[in-house]
Amino acid sequence: MRIERLKGFAYGGDYNPEQWGPEYWVEDMKLMKKAGVNLISLGIFSWAKLQKDEQTFDFSWLDTVMDLLAEYGIAADLATATAAVPAWAYGRYPDLFPVDKQGNRLWYGSRQTYCPNSPSYHRLTAALVRMIGERYKDHPALAMWHVNNEYSCHVSVCYCDTCAAEFRTWLKQRYGTIDGVNASWGTSFWSQWYYSWEEVMPPRQTTTQHNPGQVLDYQRFMSDSLLNCYLIEKHILREITPDVPITTNFMLEWKPLDYVKWAKEIDVITWDSYPNPAVGVHPARNALDHDLMRGLAGDKPFMLLEQSPSQVNWRKVNTVKYPGLNRLYSMQTIARGGEGVMYFQWRQSRRGAEKFHAACITHTGDEHSRVFKEVVSIGKELKELAELSTSKIEARVGIIYDYENWWAVEYAPGPSGEVSYRAIVLDYYTACYDAHIPVDIIFQESDLSAYDVVIAPLCYMVRPSLAQQVERYVSNGGTFVTSFFSGIADEEDAVFENGYPGPLRTVLGIQVEEFNPLEDHMYNVIANREQAGESTVSLWTEYVRLEGAQAYAEYTQDYLAGEPAVTRNTFGEGAAWYVSARPEAGYMRELLLHICTEAKVKPLITAPLGVEVTIRTGSAASWMFILNFTREPVTVDLGEYSGTDLRDRRTVRGKLEVAGTDLRIIKLD
Ligand code: GLA
Ligand code: ZN
Repeated sequence: MRIERLKGFAYGGDYNPEQWGPEYWVEDMKLMKKAGVNLISLGIFSWAKLQKDEQTFDFSWLDTVMDLLAEYGIAADLATATAAVPAWAYGRYPDLFPVDKQGNRLWYGSRQTYCPNSPSYHRLTAALVRMIGERYKDHPALAMWHVNNEYSCHVSVCYCDTCAAEFRTWLKQRYGTIDGVNASWGTSFWSQWYYSWEEVMPPRQTTTQHNPGQVLDYQRFMSDSLLNCYLIEKHILREITPDVPITTNFMLEWKPLDYVKWAKEIDVITWDSYPNPAVGVHPARNALDHDLMRGLAGDKPFMLLEQSPSQVNWRKVNTVKYPGLNRLYSMQTIARGGEGVMYFQWRQSRRGAEKFHAACITHTGDEHSRVFKEVVSIGKELKELAELSTSKIEARVGIIYDYENWWAVEYAPGPSGEVSYRAIVLDYYTACYDAHIPVDIIFQESDLSAYDVVIAPLCYMVRPSLAQQVERYVSNGGTFVTSFFSGIADEEDAVFENGYPGPLRTVLGIQVEEFNPLEDHMYNVIANREQAGESTVSLWTEYVRLEGAQAYAEYTQDYLAGEPAVTRNTFGEGAAWYVSARPEAGYMRELLLHICTEAKVKPLITAPLGVEVTIRTGSAASWMFILNFTREPVTVDLGEYSGTDLRDRRTVRGKLEVAGTDLRIIKLD
């Protein structure tokens, strides 16, 4: 389901008219038109202004704004307004309060303060959503439903008594009996055995490490509890407006929710991107989330629902997006397959916690700010690119991303508390990004045969379906790559029998005998056996025994000197690679280039570091994006490609210069 009426890219942002008198609203509409805005997210935090008590609703101001939007031809991504509960409700229904790990109640006075299992929250939100749905179902401005806001921000886990009771119900459904729970969590350990359901608790504050099985199940349960909140709203909206797409906005680098499970319930995948604009942040970090969202979307559209046109207010120091950077990040969304670019927020607040968060209309209050001028010119550029809006990204490399694995590997008490799943995924992703090799983010259940190379970084938890697929995939000619601390535990977080890397041992042709994680000041060095190439390695090393694989690189220091560090195993028609440590970025790039070249996957073009290159392919044409995230001019070599530069309609081929913080879009011949 798409937002058909936009006929091109969505452009706009969060609009909070209730913070302003009606005298601003017409002016806002005019400025929105000037900026090329065609979609705005409305009413996200409006609950308190829409409902005075349980019986009394007041939609008059929202009616006026919706009518104005219709008059000005701007579509509404209309919120269900359930994200921030009004103060009056807590006094009556204390089950609304979330409770933290220590047992403290979290008070209202901020936002998004609710227990996801609160029956009152479910009832009050359902009533509000039904009112909003019925009221605006036929409104000409309505284009999409925006359910709630950024679920799990700021309460991703609640430990209250309601949640404890619901957790037991959830466990009953998963395991059937209390002994099923005991078996899964391994409660023979530390005298944790449970004899009755009432003894089972959320992982509340305790003396030392919790049972990892209990923690993992609580993360699953919390993700499911919040998903249930979303589904309550979704089902009501679907019933009232079967044809209006429904979204809820995902977040950057977000761990608490299993977005793979969530994405199946969402029509348009949307997310909020806030990369730190301080110079030196690698653009691959943001690109990874775009690719993740595209992967979550599958055949459905995805778009950016929020980004700041300049600075945010919630970092310690909030640098601006220097001139050109907003455009570059906006176009990164488009370059990576997105169908829209939106901001938080339209008009900068004068009061409240976000008054120093940038907005399209800044505190100058007029249309003359640098930020607004950039917003206008990006709007214009997006309009000119409308014909690209349904084209797609194609990739031959897939990187597996998995939330349960993320939860489990980072909770594992030992071998190293320094292991970050995102960081290791990013190592592999950045290597491909820097080599200008397009990547799809895929999942443990995805069809691997659609790719020439599949990378599973830090694949600690391996579900049986993945293990079987990898063997089939490699024996049929695929190339599989995985890293240290992979193939360790099953989906109950129990360590596989017969050593590491568990079910991946045969295909990788190795056994890992021991892990030797490194403290910050420690390192080892690895060197390739035949090709040039060496790297210091940090974080982690392993003692690897070959069981049919060849050592591609070996350790050169300490007791591991001469032992395999990177291995390659021929398996059937394909190859399986294992990287037992954490090498530097340059080495990773060369290694991935080597692996991809062997698998006949080529970089798109030759371009320096800091330059992002993608191709969007449509039914009749393809477009190459070259984004220069450095502040210096760069020269790229288009190689076999030629085409028309959309900026000046000139034909380009061979070497091409791109100015600092600038981009080129080329319609390929
Ligand atoms: C999130 C929220 C917005 C706003 C921005 C500020 O993305 O969804 O309401 O608070 O952060 O960066
Ligand atoms: Zn709770």
